[in-house]
Amino acid sequence: YRVELDASDISKGTYDTFMLKEIDEQPAVMRKISSHYFDGKKINVDQKMLKDVADADRLYIVAAGTSYHAALVGKDIFENLADVPVDVELASEFGYHMPKLSKKPFFIFLSQSGETADSRQVLVKVNELGFHSLTMTNVPNSTLSREATYTMELLAGPEIAVASTKAYTANIAVEAVLAKAMGELKGVKAAKDLDLQGQLALAANAIQTIVDEKDKFNKIADDYLTGKNDAFYIGRGIDYALSLEAALKLKEISYIHSEGFAAGELKHGTISLIEKDTPVFAYINDGIGAAHTRGNIQEVTARGAHVLVIASKKYAEKGDQVIIPEINEMISPIVSVVPAQLIAYYASLARGNNVDQPRNLAKSVTVE
Ligand code: G6P
Repeated sequence: YRVELDASDISKGTYDTFMLKEIDEQPAVMRKISSHYFDGKKINVDQKMLKDVADADRLYIVAAGTSYHAALVGKDIFENLADVPVDVELASEFGYHMPKLSKKPFFIFLSQSGETADSRQVLVKVNELGFHSLTMTNVPNSTLSREATYTMELLAGPEIAVASTKAYTANIAVEAVLAKAMGELKGVKAAKDLDLQGQLALAANAIQTIVDEKDKFNKIADDYLTGKNDAFYIGRGIDYALSLEAALKLKEISYIHSEGFAAGELKHGTISLIEKDTPVFAYINDGIGAAHTRGNIQEVTARGAHVLVIASKKYAEKGDQVIIPEINEMISPIVSVVPAQLIAYYASLARGNNVDQPRNLAKSVTVE
């Protein structure tokens, strides 16, 4: 692989911040992933790697931060399309508290930078144990890429803003590519039935419609978050995984304390924090969870929360404020994360923070 770096990739161009530029690049990244990994109907991945990973009895996906959240979304995708059980592990925990492994494990490392020390110490141990691994990374010559058995590139182009945006969505798309290839090899019906190229094209268009509505999200940030110190993102299933990432975006750059929560778990303690005008952003893209999440929205509304519903077109109801265009549920976070990225961006800007370089954070953390 070769990284194509041109000046426009690393300059802000007409943008004031890298983060907004990178949010806007997401449709192009989806198209790039589709054209790179598909050759007509054929999926363009290393065949040796594919056999190796398809032979595993369990996948262990190891990552930190936003990449960990991309792994949580990936679990569902691999279990459905590749018919394999998946464990998702925080790198900083897994290396030192390794669970009893399955008989034929395969390790997947997700890392935008490919340099995260927490992830690397796990890879060192995995190599010592003699297991095979794959690094999905945006930086193909990075340490994690060189030390793993295989590499898949995220193809998102350089990501400069500390808060990760396009690498998250790219990572989910690349996980879907691998899961589909594995499933096709294993003869899994769900994998054969999924038109991933079509879905990535839909995702690109859907993201575009959202980023074209920046004023709307600027206004939402203003209405919901001005003067607020706490906020919640809630959802079920795929929306729970997404809520964790949405809340991380907000806290990283706006410094508003925010939590991503499983919608049904809120009532078991945390709902005590809901008071008049507490912002609650509720996701409804997950069909199975939709009706119950509506119930949870009523619970927080009854306690005074200021609720914004972000719902897919299919499950939207009258009065929902943000509608996500139609997209396959499993990969829906690729699209539905974008409103959260924009809300975080505008909340940060309104507070006069350094959007691209938030306090206390580094793009790549090379200490454990
Ligand atoms: C740092 C960054 C996060 C990132 C995490 C993992 O903490 O601030 O944005 O998600 O590292 O980075 P990686 O490069 O391994 O994906």
